[in-house]
Amino acid sequence: MNEPSRFHAAEKENRALWDEIAPIHLKAYHEVDLLREGKEILDKIELHELGPVDGKSLLHLQCHIGTDSLAWARHGARVTGVDFSEVSIACANQLSEELKTPASFIHSNIYDLRAVHEGTYDVVYTSKGVLCWLKDLKEWGRIIAHFLKPGGIFYLMEGHPIAAAMEEVKPGELSLTYPYFHKTDPTTWAGDADYADPNYVPKHASQEWDWAVSDIVNAIIDAGLRLEFVHEYEKLFFKLFPSMATKDDHWFTLPDNYAGKFPLLLTLRARKPL
Ligand SMILES: C[S@@+](CC[C@H](N)C(=O)[O-])C[C@H]1O[C@@H](n2cnc3c(N)ncnc32)[C@H](O)[C@@H]1O
Repeated sequence: MNEPSRFHAAEKENRALWDEIAPIHLKAYHEVDLLREGKEILDKIELHELGPVDGKSLLHLQCHIGTDSLAWARHGARVTGVDFSEVSIACANQLSEELKTPASFIHSNIYDLRAVHEGTYDVVYTSKGVLCWLKDLKEWGRIIAHFLKPGGIFYLMEGHPIAAAMEEVKPGELSLTYPYFHKTDPTTWAGDADYADPNYVPKHASQEWDWAVSDIVNAIIDAGLRLEFVHEYEKLFFKLFPSMATKDDHWFTLPDNYAGKFPLLLTLRARKPL
């Protein structure tokens, strides 16, 4: 199989996985309950770093079941969410209706978005488990630049790439097990419990690409955006390693012996020049 066919097959398998687990997530995501209770689900880091969105148009790439999209809509943004999983988009529309929080959702692969959707936005936002599904980060950067208005902001909050290369080999002991740098073909993962519902093991495998920090930063710079900051944090939005613990806010940290030693989260803000 040549590269486009291999990538197409990998995306097809990933789409089937996300279609399978979207209804599981609609039941299992704690964010859904919090939204129903009228509570905040966005973290203070992103609220602070992205800044006020009231009255702004916001394109949310890889929006999944729309939880974060609807949270930004509650902050006053006019939100358009995009996802290639048809079932995720159906869940997002259902949630938007139930919560009486308007937002538009588009069913599209982000790589096809320029062909099916017109318009430019004040903000392009993407977060929490998005980059490993993407086959081409340079093209991702160009898509972001295309949909930004001049002066518009791109904001990313994502698991730190170095954390994805680590494994907890003994309780509290991390080891560098997996490759950090990008390779052309994705890695197949199967048989692990779902990250939101530990009692559910997805039937479909995932095909994931690793991207280094330099790949992310260079994709943004090469697309002509002006990088405003890159930040690293010692907390993560899911339990990546067994010994991680949460203080009831659904964010996880490593045991104290790792304090000050290891990044778990990466954020980045960039602006399209006027
Ligand atoms: C972890 S979720 C998104 C994160 C979101 N913050 C959440 O937890 O609800 C990843 C999403 O990326 C979507 N996705 C993966 N590859 C995509 C692509 N090429 N185009 C559009 N959506 C894609 C999947 O369907 C899935 O809904």
